[in-house]
Amino acid sequence: MPARALNWALHDGIAVVTLDLPGEPVNKISRAVKDEFNATFATLERDPAVRAVAFFSGKPDNFIAGADIEEFVRLTSAPEAERLVADGQEMLDRVARCTKPVAVGIHGACLGGGFEFALACHYRVATDHPKTQLGLPEVQLGILPAAGGCQRLPRLVGMRAALDMILAGKVEHAQRAFRAGMVDELVPPPILKDVTLAAATRMAGGWRPRRRRPGGVMGWLLDGNPLGRRLVFRMARRQVLEQTRGNYPAPLAALEAVATGLAHGIPAGSKREAELFGRLAVTDVSRKLVQIFFATTQLKKDFGVPDPPPPVEVHRLGIVGTGFMGSGIAGTAVTQAVVDVRLKDADLARVAQGLRAAREIVDDRLRRRRITKHEHQRLVALLSGGDGYVGFRRAELVIEAVFEDLTVKQRVLREIEAVVGERAVFASNTSTIPITRIAAVAARPERVIGMHFFSPVPRMPLLEVIPGEHTAPWAVSTAVSFGRRMGKTAIVVRDRPGFWINRILGPYMNEAAHLLLAGAAIEEIDRQMVRFGFPVGPLTLLDEVGLDVAEKAGGVLHAAFGERFAPPPAVASLVRVGRFGRKAGQGFYRYARGKKGGADPAVYELIGIRPNGGLRPAEILQRLVFAMLNEAARAVGEGVVRSSRDGDIGAIFGIGFPPFRGGPLRHLDDLGAARAVSELERLAERCGPRFVPCDVLREQASRGTRFYP
Ligand code: 3HC
Repeated sequence: MPARALNWALHDGIAVVTLDLPGEPVNKISRAVKDEFNATFATLERDPAVRAVAFFSGKPDNFIAGADIEEFVRLTSAPEAERLVADGQEMLDRVARCTKPVAVGIHGACLGGGFEFALACHYRVATDHPKTQLGLPEVQLGILPAAGGCQRLPRLVGMRAALDMILAGKVEHAQRAFRAGMVDELVPPPILKDVTLAAATRMAGGWRPRRRRPGGVMGWLLDGNPLGRRLVFRMARRQVLEQTRGNYPAPLAALEAVATGLAHGIPAGSKREAELFGRLAVTDVSRKLVQIFFATTQLKKDFGVPDPPPPVEVHRLGIVGTGFMGSGIAGTAVTQAVVDVRLKDADLARVAQGLRAAREIVDDRLRRRRITKHEHQRLVALLSGGDGYVGFRRAELVIEAVFEDLTVKQRVLREIEAVVGERAVFASNTSTIPITRIAAVAARPERVIGMHFFSPVPRMPLLEVIPGEHTAPWAVSTAVSFGRRMGKTAIVVRDRPGFWINRILGPYMNEAAHLLLAGAAIEEIDRQMVRFGFPVGPLTLLDEVGLDVAEKAGGVLHAAFGERFAPPPAVASLVRVGRFGRKAGQGFYRYARGKKGGADPAVYELIGIRPNGGLRPAEILQRLVFAMLNEAARAVGEGVVRSSRDGDIGAIFGIGFPPFRGGPLRHLDDLGAARAVSELERLAERCGPRFVPCDVLREQASRGTRFYP
């Protein structure tokens, strides 16, 4: 007999049920677990000694992570998927209808089907611990909450709050969930069990919780009548379409399931939920999003070196350079990793500015109510700075974010080596300069590494970690592990110019400029890439990155890889007149008071062209996409990323490559190497040798191989 996941014992008439899936780090609801739930709840209902139920997780930091996603991967047809969730619904209906009241004590992640289970219970107590998070992230996997989530949540918290969570796949900290009415009581972890038991006992005695009307007066007005509901749904639908541009069907399906349930009752809503789940679970979009989930999960454990040595634990972080990147790293390190941060710059005015910017990131967390006032004070106190290296001696990690210039970076490295201890790692936040070159002047090159953050640091989820030729494995695991503490997904990449992200961006950005010179309009170029699924187009991205910065990076790539990377003159003409992009208030677009305006016609004059409408949208799209795909394949051939997985996750998290396409390498696999090669050959003929297909793709085409097995 396999070990049981659900066990229970009776305490003064209360059945204390514990879910602890043997041999697994988290609880998840598989077919087998469902069977156990059904059998256990049937026994509890029958047993006259049981007056109420108190339910807990046996895992230290996890409640229930949802339905078992591994089971979705094995689904082969829509009817099979529909049956799978219909069984789950039946199980939760049994809990909801249980004649004995059920109280649930939640500590740790309570997500997807786990949260839907909690919603089916009659009373919810949650701990106020940061690890306790509740939510319905299903749409992030291309499916919808289909175990009653689209039915029970709107009834509990009101339609607008429920849609807000369901349509965005949001996960909330317990405090916010409590404020929204998703849990009934919020308690410190040591008393979770007692409080939940007390609630179960009270309910056994006939007491029932009285909950306020969901959504207040407005909720009553809108939720309670068909006209109000129609208005809310219409607005939600418009918002979803604006955000997904029709590329992600799951949020619209969820909206439909909620609408059906509110109009025709829970049974009809649940039936629709199951049907829609069936359809979505076997779509290509859902498969791609599930692959991304498993790839990111694997990356959480991957240190990028074989047999990784234990990382040095970082208590104090030194940062040299207090500009936008330095202060961004400082603020993020304080809020996410809760370490002591010491900033250094050449003069105190700059240090003050950097500290202010870092503090702004902490303040933002308070404004968004992610932290309490007390935590805010504690975090702000972790930030300090000066114009010398005072306070750097104890730092286990120092990150430099100074001007992108080899000599400056080498000077900083030598200064740092003179003050820090033996086991301190020196990381450069360079975006293009090879780490081995920076480390050439180091007394201990084994502890020099690259940590390439993306801008804006608090928001961008990717970190490229770049070991130089002599970097020691312990320095790699230290950088990766600290990046993870900062909340980043880290990929370890090879020390080649541009690393991975800028390498694949380079030809793409250049192609945008080529298109502009060939007469394509600014908005049209951007529109095509947004249509493809990028959050913004290449010219908007150039404005965000800064044209001056991009020009410099482009120069490094051109010098390293030759003609293929030759920048068309468009960007240089704009840089010459100070059109650096958003930060200068003008680039390809106009900016007023921080807001992006329309494309600026002055750009055409400056680069001496006139948009002529001569390029078809399909051609614009093809040239941009293939410029990136070809370079990505070539870089994989050079071992720039350790695996296709890292390459795809990097592109999705680093530049917003459309997740529903799975990343550039998965996309190439979907197209097929033979087709990619013939498209590239056609483009090379028309536009020049920069499109000549790389060897990797040619070889794949001739051997019939691919990036993924
Ligand atoms: N199904 C299958 N495996 C899961 C899982 C799930 N729902 N959640 C986590 N796991 C696995 C991970 O793949 C990983 O496996 P491994 O050890 O073999 O690599 C292991 O559990 C540990 O996970 P993490 O490394 O991610 O652990 P963390 O502590 O960092 O994070 C977590 C825990 C916050 C729960 C995170 O794993 C997570 O976000 N999980 C997914 C949550 C989710 O999307 N749930 C919705 C599922 S769909 C659903 O419920 C449909 C329903 O509406 C019908």
